[in-house]
Amino acid sequence: MAHLWRGVIREYMDRLDIKSDNPIITLGEGGTPLVQAPALAKLVGAEAAWLKFEGMNPTGSFKDRGMTMAVSKAVGHGAQAVICASTGNTSASAAAYAAAAGIQSVVLVPKGKISLGKLSQAVAHKAQILQVKGNFDDCLRLARELSENYAVHLVNSVNPDRIEGQKTGAFEVVDALGYAPDLHVLPVGNAGNYSAYFKGYQEDLEAGRIYKIPQMWGYQAEGSAPFTVGHPVAKPETIATAIRIGNPASWDLAQNAREVSGGRFGAVTDAEILWMHRFLSQEVGVFVEPSSATGAAGLFKASKAGEVAAGSKIVVTVTGHGLKDPMWALKDERGKEIKPTSVSAKAAEVAERLGLSKSS
Ligand code: F0G
Repeated sequence: MAHLWRGVIREYMDRLDIKSDNPIITLGEGGTPLVQAPALAKLVGAEAAWLKFEGMNPTGSFKDRGMTMAVSKAVGHGAQAVICASTGNTSASAAAYAAAAGIQSVVLVPKGKISLGKLSQAVAHKAQILQVKGNFDDCLRLARELSENYAVHLVNSVNPDRIEGQKTGAFEVVDALGYAPDLHVLPVGNAGNYSAYFKGYQEDLEAGRIYKIPQMWGYQAEGSAPFTVGHPVAKPETIATAIRIGNPASWDLAQNAREVSGGRFGAVTDAEILWMHRFLSQEVGVFVEPSSATGAAGLFKASKAGEVAAGSKIVVTVTGHGLKDPMWALKDERGKEIKPTSVSAKAAEVAERLGLSKSS
């Protein structure tokens, strides 16, 4: 009989920091596909590679795993409103879960720097949206300040409930494979997700479900790479707007995760991100938003430097759906717009345009 996935809180109740009588606000998040990616494994010379396809969550990104926890606990505390700063995905998720809970959401986004798909989600779910003249880091500073002084509950990943929910991504990888991969690769912005996967693996290790933690490899965009330069970046720039963050909120957690796991941070160019974005959709069959291709782009770069061991088993988290920011798919390698050809509704003309030969 088919098993109906009940959302990450009910599926992992015994491993999460939540009381059994806390209200549960869920949209059925988690349980996302772990997609075999032989084309990626071949490209980087690994034994096997999988994509943890987080675009398959209810609002199209991994944020939902953390948001079910953060909003459930906010409601448990009697909150009437939640607030977040966002490059788009957190706000889409916060707005949806607040709608499900019947409370208000307030979102602060950097003006002109979030994709239309994500903005439309916040509007659709009736968030109060303010576009801030500044970048994500300014938005987060404001959201923190407001939540400290006003009756509004912060649901950014500086709230530990978010990390707690997102660690279930690692649980699912282990449940699906039966072991931990050698490498786990992710795109990094605030480094909340990077830290959350590490926490999940660490708890699996302590519980004896795995016998080693994967090396955690986190990649940023070159113009927005505080972990590579070793300090916050005042003016982050990249086309990967989801990870256009100069002052990561989970700095210390991430440094610890990197050190304990024997992992690394690195950076890739926007061109390398867009190349991998296309490779994943054309060769693997998984459509992600550009930011989500950053981890895989970093993995490819490392493989070209001979840094991926031949027998490696690798999981790459692809964080958000391609439909969030579809305009990038409609451009070719040189940035030229791709437009399908128009034809009349006649089979002979269509066949000619397609270069089809007659069947015998
Ligand atoms: N990938 C996507 C698609 C994201 O939206 C984000 C973060 C990340 C990766 C990085 O995750 O911050 O935990 O290191 N987006 C946040 C937002 C900042 O507001 O939606 P992180």
